[in-house]
Formats: sequence, C-alpha cells, structure tokens
Amino acid sequence: MNDLPEHVRRNRAAWDAWASEYAAAGERAWALEHPTWGIWDVPESELALLPDDIAGKDAIELGCGTAYVSAWMARRGARVVGIDNSEAQLATARRLQGKYGLDFPLLHGNAETVPYPDASFDFAISEYGACLWADPQRWVPEAARLLRPGGRLVFLVNSFLMALCAPDEEAVAATDRLRRPAFGLCRLEFPGETSVEFHPSHGDWIRLLRQSGFEIEDLIEVWPPAGAASHYPFVTFDWARQWPSEEVWKVRKRE
Ligand SMILES: C[S@@+](CC[C@H](N)C(=O)[O-])C[C@H]1O[C@@H](n2cnc3c(N)ncnc32)[C@H](O)[C@@H]1O
Repeated sequence: MNDLPEHVRRNRAAWDAWASEYAAAGERAWALEHPTWGIWDVPESELALLPDDIAGKDAIELGCGTAYVSAWMARRGARVVGIDNSEAQLATARRLQGKYGLDFPLLHGNAETVPYPDASFDFAISEYGACLWADPQRWVPEAARLLRPGGRLVFLVNSFLMALCAPDEEAVAATDRLRRPAFGLCRLEFPGETSVEFHPSHGDWIRLLRQSGFEIEDLIEVWPPAGAASHYPFVTFDWARQWPSEEVWKVRKRE
C-alpha cells in the first residue's frame, strides 16, 4: 500500500468507502441483456464500444469496479480480466460473478502497473475507471504495453468541457459558466473530497495517445437521447443536450 502513488492510495480509500453506494447500480447493469453506457444510459447499438468480433479475444477492463462491462464481454465470448484498485468494489463484482455463474479473473491492483506480460490482450476498455482516476501518463502507456499490435483501447469519461464547468459541490449542476481554467487543469481535486481525478485536454489526450503508440479512430461526444435521465446531480439533461457531458475515445495500437 505504501509503495502506491499518492493518488492511487487516496482513490483506493475513497472507492473502498463509496463501494456500497455503487452495488445496486452494478447489480442492475449486470442484469442488462443489452448494454447501455455512461450517465445517460446510451445504448450499445448507438455507441458501439464493444468490438463486433470480441468472441475468442483477450480483453481487459481497467478499473472494472463492479465488473458489469467485463460480464458483458464474457457473455459475448471474450476471455476477460478485470483489474480494480478497490477490494470493496471487487467484493461486489465477485458476489455478482457467483450470482450469474460467470467466472473470470478479478485482480486487486493499480491499472498503471498490470501484472501481465506485454501484448497479452486484443482489447482494453475503461468506463469511468482508470481513464478518470489513474494518471494518464502512467495508465495510457501501460494499456499500450498490454495490447497486441492492432489491438484496441476504448474509454468513456466526462468531457473536458464538463470538467471545466462542474461546480465544486457535486450536488450542484453545471451551468454555462466556466468554473476553472483549462490550461494546467489535468489533475482535479474537488474541495472536501480525498479522491483525485484526471482530466487532460483534448490536445493532451491526442499527444499522449499518439506518443504511446495509438492511432485515434474516433472521438464521440455523447448526446443523450430524448427522454434520457441522469442519476447524477452535477449535470442536467438540458445542459447535456447543448454541450457534450461525456466522451468516448476509440484508439488502435499501431501495427
Ligand atoms: C465509477 S467506477 C467505474 C467502474 C465500473 N464502470 C463501475 O461503474 O462499477 C471507478 C472504478 O475505478 C477504480 N479505480 C480507480 N483508480 C484505479 C486505478 N489506478 N487502477 C484500477 N482501478 C482504479 C475504482 O476503484 C472504481 O472501482
């Protein structure tokens, strides 16, 4: 524990404390036949985060939490590994594995240093996991190391604009006001929270992904469908219909 980077130690304590609040949502997501993503439950049929040809492929979820994304991939025939920094989140994941009779490795660890050899996976995914809570300068090169040439990395995270507009208090929704400077943002700590988030700008993401050996295939700015509802107080439907509240990056490791 003491040899973990400071932000990983802090996020471990935070997620161990929050895990019980996320168990019910994890349970609902495990039960879904058709995956939906992010704040607005946008269907997989619209965002296509999971590759069509995932059956028989090696896949890893970086910051798997309750591991419903891993479960969706395992049900599609992938050989899946989930890694998460919080033992309490993994306890929910293990309970749900038992309930649904799905068995795949769940590792307790830091997605910035994954105990697997180079080129072990064809696909890596993170939904508000390592892509939000781990240091991009560490987890992106690590994802590149883990993937085979031609392998894909997909992640879904708050948009950079959301990070600029989100109020300091989570219970207050974003408005059309920019609350913090864009330059020099990246690491973000909300007042009163012990956790640490990372919000690189688009330029920083592009530079880091390319330097790490990825080509960028798509950047989807998620537009919630009519009638969508947020479970999170920090963004309203009205806001998210005008500006991107979350974004999906799809990248491929150079051959
Ligand atoms: C919002 S959850 C996302 C996971 C999943 N989509 C879910 O909702 O259960 C964030 C997860 O990222 C994990 N996490 C944070 N930092 C991490 C790190 N450095 N390595 C691995 N997992 C990490 C947390 O422990 C937490 O379970």
